[in-house]
Amino acid sequence: MARKLAFINYKGGVGKTSLIVNIAACLAKKGKRVLLCDLDTQSNSSIWLLRIERWNRINMEKRGSSYSIFDPGEDRIKDIIVKDVVRDNQGNVQLPGLDLLPTTFNLIDIENEYKINPQNPHYLIFNEQIREVEKDYDFILYDCPPNVLNASQCGIFSADELYVPSNPDALSLIGFTLMIEKLLLFYRRSAGFRTQEMGNFARVSGVIFNSIKANVDIGVPKMRMQLRLNQFKKQRLVSNEAKIYNACVRDATIVRRAVTLGLPVCLVESRDVVDGVGQDYDDLAEEILAHNVNASAPSSDMASAS
Ligand SMILES: Nc1ncnc2c1ncn2[C@@H]1O[C@H](COP(=O)(O)OP(=O)(O)O)[C@@H](O)[C@H]1O
Ligand SMILES: [Mg+2]
Repeated sequence: MARKLAFINYKGGVGKTSLIVNIAACLAKKGKRVLLCDLDTQSNSSIWLLRIERWNRINMEKRGSSYSIFDPGEDRIKDIIVKDVVRDNQGNVQLPGLDLLPTTFNLIDIENEYKINPQNPHYLIFNEQIREVEKDYDFILYDCPPNVLNASQCGIFSADELYVPSNPDALSLIGFTLMIEKLLLFYRRSAGFRTQEMGNFARVSGVIFNSIKANVDIGVPKMRMQLRLNQFKKQRLVSNEAKIYNACVRDATIVRRAVTLGLPVCLVESRDVVDGVGQDYDDLAEEILAHNVNASAPSSDMASAS
């Protein structure tokens, strides 16, 4: 069964997209079958991995991206996944095993224009279609926008683990706290659609610090985050196994350059990749592989937590 991980924080710009793209690439390099689902209308991970020309074609067609499973509703996820998404300009596969469910700007319409059927809400439609492809993957990753609105809800409802990218600052901590409050509201509202087969709602199992500048001590922000995690654990609002990841990602220019090149960091040729930030992403992928919280202990249900 695929492990389904959503990357989310209520704060933008903390590194959700760069972490998910690079961790997905590291997992694929280790031979895992990975599906990255872009659920952010800004389409950053889609544009990054498809590069602008291929992404533009999908954006113009108004078909073949995540919103088209809702409107016109004739596409199914299994038919619109871009297999082995990382290609060179001749179309040769650069990283076998990394697939993408692309998103285009029209995903914004799921927040207002799309008429949600209260008997069959968007997150249920999405989840049902993810289940059709789950057997083909070891990991399914959801890149969420910084909110718990409709597009995000698709990933959150379908996920079994949540990861919170954070920067070592007070705003990331505020974003984390706000997100937990909003998650709780969504879980209570959607609890009636949860079947036993789906298991419990996903809870936070990891906080990942990103963009750490050289010579900056992150001891204090880490301690503050740990205190908040402990408090949430007591209230059963995060997984009992939730932890701050040991591996952190340093701030490095190559991360921004990789976006321009349309490659994950591990495929960029540079010394920084071998013994710098590339190693950070690899360490994170290893830590995620080793920290499979749902495999070891059944979690209690957050929807009924206080
Ligand atoms: N470790 C890093 N080092 C340098 N720049 C980074 C790093 N992580 C992210 N960035 C840059 O910070 C910006 C925001 O990151 P992004 O991953 O898009 O955040 P989010 O998805 O949370 O909005 C991007 O321009 C990205 O390239
Ligand atoms: Mg993003």
